[in-house]
Order: sequence, then C-alpha cells, then structure tokens
Amino acid sequence: MRKIIIAGNWKMNKTFSETDDFLFEITDYLRGKDLGNVEVVICPPFLYIEMGSDFANESNIYIGAQNVSNHESGAFTGEVSAPMLRSMDIDYCIIGHSERRKYYQESDELVNQKLKILLDYDIIPIVCVGETLEQREKGITEEIVINQLNRAFKDIEINDNVVIAYEPVWAIGTGKTATPQQAQEIQCLIRDWLIENYSKEVADQTPILYGGSMKPENIKELLLQPDIDGGLVGGASLDIEKFTKMIEIATELG
Ligand code: 13P
Repeated sequence: MRKIIIAGNWKMNKTFSETDDFLFEITDYLRGKDLGNVEVVICPPFLYIEMGSDFANESNIYIGAQNVSNHESGAFTGEVSAPMLRSMDIDYCIIGHSERRKYYQESDELVNQKLKILLDYDIIPIVCVGETLEQREKGITEEIVINQLNRAFKDIEINDNVVIAYEPVWAIGTGKTATPQQAQEIQCLIRDWLIENYSKEVADQTPILYGGSMKPENIKELLLQPDIDGGLVGGASLDIEKFTKMIEIATELG
C-alpha cells in the first residue's frame, strides 16, 4: 500500500521559539498515535533543521529541507548541501517549488541536478511541478507538467525513493484550491507518466501529493481521489490546530 504523506512546507515563517513550540505540540499530539500508512513531514527553514532533527529522533515525525544546493561542497556562499542534510539525518527535501522557480530562477535543469544529488545521498526528493494560471487558461497544463517531469527526471533512475507534488501555481497561497477532479486529472497524468517512463511498480509506489490551499475543509475530498496520496501544505501547516486536524482526517481515511 502506498504511503500517504502530509507534509508541511513552512516556507520563510516562524521564529526559533515558535518552531520549538510547534514541534513540541505536534510531537506531543502524535505520541502513541497509530498513524497507519500516514507519514507526517515538517519542512522548516534551514536554521531549525537541527532542532527538527532532534524532535524527529524522539518521535514519529520526519523532517524535510525546503531546498538544497546542486553542488556537493565548496565556495557557494549561502548554500546548503545534500551531504550536510544527510549528516543531520534529514529524510526529505523539496525541490522545484514554484516560488524557487519564480524568485530564484530555479530551472528544470537545476531541479534535475538537485534531484540527482539528493538521490546520491539517500534523501527523498519532493519534486514540485505545476502550471501557472496563464498556462491553464491557454489549455497547456498537461504539456507543461509533462515537460517539467521529462526535464527534471532526465537520465535519472528511481525506484521507491521519490515523491512528486502537483502544485498548480494559481492555487498556492491564494485560497483557490484546484477541485478534486482538476487535481486528480493531472495527478493521474503524472502516474501514467511514471508507468511509461519507469514501470508500473514505480508508479504504484510513488506518492503523488497535491499542494495549493489545502486545508482541513478540503483535504478529505482531495485525498479521496485515487491518485492523490497526501498533501504539501503551506499556510495551513503553520497552524497546529489546522495541521493536526488534517493529519487526523488523513489517518481516518488511511
Ligand atoms: P499553500 O498551502 O499556502 O497554498 O501553499 C502550498 C505550497 O506551496 C506548499 O508547498
């Protein structure tokens, strides 16, 4: 059975003490809970990775980074490398997020390099793809997503070590969620792409998450879709009540 992943992408939010409080509360909430096949991942800013890793060691949460360098080491001021993340026992790392594509010129080629280096260091990449509003309105959503996948995964072998997140850019931080049908349509396309380019087995094992204004009010309908295996949650993951509610709903659906 495929894993269901509820991942919180905190983006550039929370201070040290807010992070400490949140991690304390979430690990407290999860203590002794049977999550079944649900995995809870928190992706805090880099500064709090060590704190997150300490909490993860004592609980059933996983920690992810929000970015990684495409280089292994060297004179790259301000960057954080995959070997560094591995040395902190970090399990996941988001790459190709639309905010990094938009504000930091992260291209598909760069995503491809980051994907390679993460796999080399046994960190599970959460590869984000998704179309802008303009692209959706032009009717080229499928083409955009397939191109992003083809380029990001170029010359890369995968088995069960990758997560893909479909995040329509127009749904991120806007309060405008894709309908379950809209999300399902593209996530099914991604699953078919995995079958075609890898195998049925890889496609069956790869969690495909939805991201974009996911919240307690809409998570159930989204998770009920056959190709939505969890969520990459932004805004709602910053709020302990909302985030734990979403975990609760995911666990009930199993
Ligand atoms: P929101 O949930 O705030 O729309 O953000 C989604 C996202 O970008 C997660 O990576």
